[in-house]
Amino acid sequence: MSFDLQEIVPFGRSYTEYVAMFALEEADLSGRLLDCGGGPAAFNAELNRRGGAVVSADPLYGYEAEAIRARIDEVVPEMMVQLERNRDKFRWDRSGSPEELVALRQSAMDAFLADYPEGLREGRYVDAALPELPFGKGRFDLVLVSHLLFLYSDHLDAAFHLRALQELAHLAGEVRVFPLADLDGQPSRHLDPARRGLAASGLDSEVVRVAYESQKGVNRMLRITAET
Ligand SMILES: C[S@@+](CC[C@H](N)C(=O)[O-])C[C@H]1O[C@@H](n2cnc3c(N)ncnc32)[C@H](O)[C@@H]1O
Repeated sequence: MSFDLQEIVPFGRSYTEYVAMFALEEADLSGRLLDCGGGPAAFNAELNRRGGAVVSADPLYGYEAEAIRARIDEVVPEMMVQLERNRDKFRWDRSGSPEELVALRQSAMDAFLADYPEGLREGRYVDAALPELPFGKGRFDLVLVSHLLFLYSDHLDAAFHLRALQELAHLAGEVRVFPLADLDGQPSRHLDPARRGLAASGLDSEVVRVAYESQKGVNRMLRITAET
């Protein structure tokens, strides 16, 4: 699959947001983690700094830091406009103001960019794209997917979702995906078919409510468990 940096919105979340989105506990954070579609999030940088074992996979990592930085600089002002325009769709009691939310994300992306060259050398940032990843069965304990599957329901079809989730379940005993809503904040039409497909291939899944809620009502993750 070709990947054009202009086509994506590289917007990265903070470590604290990941912990809340995926209800991560100490036991989760001490395992071998994969952040799939990690983009410019700070999760890898911060967990690595805390001594955790984490790899992120994303086609973004085929690009040099300067190209990613330039794209982020283009996207941030546009994100600010979108947040102002859709102000009523967000929980500002949790996120402060659009300015504060953008500042939080900017500082997360700065942490990613500072860590990126070393992380590439250490193999913590891997240039790879779903639905096929270059890792062996059971290579991880837990896979996280933030703001990729289900969110981009108009870009990625039902078959892609199922193939991607089966691939991720092959890599780890547990997969967590957030959010389960599309870009309009509506429940993704791919969720139920994907869960039926997972069940048919022997994979259990459950929808779990989490404490994280930046966009109003968007507060559920999918948890898939597999035998490794
Ligand atoms: C909106 S960003 C989310 C970044 C990060 N997970 C977060 O929540 O802050 C979506 C990411 O998915 C990545 N992506 C797009 N297509 C992908 C694919 N087929 N496999 C893996 N990652 C992909 C993009 O490069 C981008 O970094």
